[in-house]
Parts: sequence; C-alpha cells; structure tokens
Amino acid sequence: MTELSRAFDNVADAYDAARPRYPDGMYDALSEISGVTLSGARVVDVGAGTGILTRGLQDRGARVLAIDPGAEMLTRLRSRSPRSEGTAAALRADGNALPLHGDVADLVVYGQSWHWLDPVASIAEARRVLRPGGAIAGCWNFTDARQSGWLAEYENRLARECPGYWGQALEEWTVPPMATAFDLAEERWVPWTRMIGIEDFLLDLRSHSYMAVLPGEAADELVGRRRAELAAAFPEGLLAVPMHTYLAVGR
Ligand SMILES: C[S@@+](CC[C@H](N)C(=O)[O-])C[C@H]1O[C@@H](n2cnc3c(N)ncnc32)[C@H](O)[C@@H]1O
Repeated sequence: MTELSRAFDNVADAYDAARPRYPDGMYDALSEISGVTLSGARVVDVGAGTGILTRGLQDRGARVLAIDPGAEMLTRLRSRSPRSEGTAAALRADGNALPLHGDVADLVVYGQSWHWLDPVASIAEARRVLRPGGAIAGCWNFTDARQSGWLAEYENRLARECPGYWGQALEEWTVPPMATAFDLAEERWVPWTRMIGIEDFLLDLRSHSYMAVLPGEAADELVGRRRAELAAAFPEGLLAVPMHTYLAVGR
C-alpha cells in the first residue's frame, strides 16, 4: 500500500458521488468471458473503495466480499451497501495479502484498482483464493477523448496544468497491463455515453488521485478554470461524455 493509494481517503465523498458506474455490457462480458454466472457467485472485490463495483455485482445477485485498506472509502461502502442476504461484507485489508482461506471464490475482481497493487503478489493471492475454474478480472472506466474534440482539449489542459496527471492526453499512457499477468487473457472494450451535469463532472475530476494530492488552493483554481470553459461551451450545463470500459479476464 502506498501513500498515494491512501489519497483516495481524502476524496471519498467526491469519489462516491461522482465516479461513473460500470455499464451493463461490462457485467455481461465479465460473465460471458469468465464462464461464471454472477447470480449466486462468490466474489472477492479487491480495492472495492466506496463499493461502486460491489453494488453492481450485488445488483446482479453476487455474494460479494469487499476488501480495501482505506478506512474512509470502506465507511462509505458499508453505509451504502447494507448487509443482508446476498449483499456485501467488507474487510479493511491489503489485496496483496488477502485475509482469506484458499478455494473460496468464483471470481476475484478489481474495479479501477489493480494498478494500485503489486502486480505479482496480487495475482498470486487471487489465484490462491479462487476455486478451480474461477477467474480474475479487472475493469476500468475511461473517458474516450478520441470521440470528441472538447474532451480531447479538456484532457490536454489537465495534462498541462496538473503535475501528476496520468491519462490519455499523455503519449505514454496505456491501460494497466493486467492482461500481461496471465498466459491467456481476454480483453474487451465496452463503449457507452455518460450524461452528466458539469458540477458532477467536476466532482469526478476532484476524485482522481492526481487531484487529491494537489494543494487545496491549486485544485480549486484548476477546477474553476475547467468550470468556466465547460460552462461557456455547454451553457445548458449538461455533458454527453463518450466513455469506454476496459475489461481484462484471466485465470
Ligand atoms: C480508484 S479506487 C477504486 C474503487 C472501486 N473499486 C471502483 O470500482 O470505483 C482504488 C481503490 O484501491 C484501493 N487500494 C489501494 N491499494 C490497495 C491494496 N494494496 N489492496 C487493496 N486495495 C487497495 C484504494 O484504497 C481505493 O479505494
């Protein structure tokens, strides 16, 4: 666990309120590629955060154990995911050393989180807790700036103004290399559109780790500049953001 990974605790409310949910097509692809029916499946959600993926899996009938080292993130998860039949249990723990016996899970999943973990230890741990025939999956929501001029310009400005920016405006940007952790992995991209108000879009911006480590005043000023540009371009206040969700599934 790194200090940077703990930065999420500082932006837990923004994260919970404004980060996108995963599209239906991602859950369909996860089930299709892994061969695991989500309804009734035992799933370990590593780096569960405030529970965005946890709740998506629960909504589809999975029994989810959520793991995260971030106390603030897990507090949101627990308050938003009440425990009852078929809903989430949550443990504060490191995904590189899962506090679980072997052979207990049908799926181990990482929603926007695997890149925070040790690439070797995390997969070894996932394999240890999986039952035979189980699968490991990572998914990430990304905006798709190739589809829209305003979004490409928005990302370029972030790259110029935000020292820790990591995203598609950088030539060296790639998806997290999770598929390389497996001999045979299947990858899928699921395109979709997110309709979102400007203020929620800016709240989402604040929840990124590269914003969370900026001094407060610098973050406020950067968000203010983006607000002014977006309001000028979209006076009705609503954005149609092209998205694509990356899914990697391996064993
Ligand atoms: C970007 S958030 C993802 C939250 C959620 N899974 C989602 O789908 O939006 C990344 C999460 O990974 C967690 N994390 C960082 N290092 C971790 C580790 N070593 N083990 C487990 N989780 C970790 C952070 O605390 C944070 O909650």
